[in-house]
Amino acid sequence: MRPMRDFDYYMPTKIRFGPGVSSKVGEELRALGGKRVLVVTDAGIVRAKLLEDIAASLDKAGISHLVFDEVEANATISKVLKGSELQKKMECDILLSIGGGSVMDAAKAIGILATNPGPLTDYEGPEKYDNPPLPTVAVATTAGTGSEVSFGAVVFDEERCYKLSIRSAMQIPKAAFLDPLLLKTTPPRLAAATGMDALSHALEAYVSQSSTFITDALCRENFRLVGRYLRRFVADPSDTEAAGAMLQASSMGAMAFNTARLGIVHAMAHPLGARFSLHHGVACGILLPHAMRFNLMACPQRYIDVAVGLEGYVQGHLEMGRACCAVEAVERLLADTGVQVDFSSTEITEELLSTLSDETLSSGMQRTNPRAVTKEDVMNIFRLLFQKG
Ligand SMILES: [Fe+2]
Repeated sequence: MRPMRDFDYYMPTKIRFGPGVSSKVGEELRALGGKRVLVVTDAGIVRAKLLEDIAASLDKAGISHLVFDEVEANATISKVLKGSELQKKMECDILLSIGGGSVMDAAKAIGILATNPGPLTDYEGPEKYDNPPLPTVAVATTAGTGSEVSFGAVVFDEERCYKLSIRSAMQIPKAAFLDPLLLKTTPPRLAAATGMDALSHALEAYVSQSSTFITDALCRENFRLVGRYLRRFVADPSDTEAAGAMLQASSMGAMAFNTARLGIVHAMAHPLGARFSLHHGVACGILLPHAMRFNLMACPQRYIDVAVGLEGYVQGHLEMGRACCAVEAVERLLADTGVQVDFSSTEITEELLSTLSDETLSSGMQRTNPRAVTKEDVMNIFRLLFQKG
């Protein structure tokens, strides 16, 4: 039991869940007062024809729309600026993001630039801009990021090869649509990567020094859902029950980390993902076992809860042995879902390790990590990751 401390919990997003619920996007935007919407998405979503029913709902609600479909896998500042120009030129009064984390984060950033002078890089960190952004509504097409209910937006700064994180409760979407039918064409590799992201959010929030009784409950349900449904979802993304469960796990992870914050996995995953062009969920997934082993001694009971949540039971007489079961459960998930990266042909220099570790610590995300972490610690965890191959 951790010491009781004061906290605030705030989650203003209206969540609409259900197979086919995205056909109600138009009515939601109209209720929010939107008349001209900028739809922020990516080309893959357009190709998969995920826009069609939603566009029909916009027409039905009498809302004109314009599509900006140029967001890439890692939302870049240049694409955000392009979307922002379009929003201003067409005087769109509301934003609709349809996609995964990059798309949702790009829409949040476009919303910030609609009402704040910029540049975007000035807003890195918590509560760095003054004016409430243009309202956004988010339709999730992946189950992992939880950006549809999160205070954060991560944008890739191409010039610095750096992921900047902008955080404010003002940019959280007004409404989030979780429609399992939109996930049925998810490539299994993406289903696996995003699922590991969803798990890593809850895992970091659960062991965080800022965890609360509300975030703990959200995390424990995330572990149960991921343990029960991630493999099933990866095996068949058209399995509506599994997709729905993973969407819920994903949102719960973000609803937890909004308050509880994250830890060294995300602090390390951002520079790792940026340097090696890894999907964010893959970067988090491969880091998890190493970071968990490092953190284990700080809060073994918490990791026992993780193991019980993921696998339903835990064996062993010694506390640390039972806590280790959480690491093994995550390693089994990674192996079963094929989340792995082979670094054996990559030259890893001490200089690179040092740079990655400096970037890790500059994020500040390690501040809520359950165990204090030094640069040498981070370098050692990266060494273990790269050795593993
Ligand atoms: Fe994440």
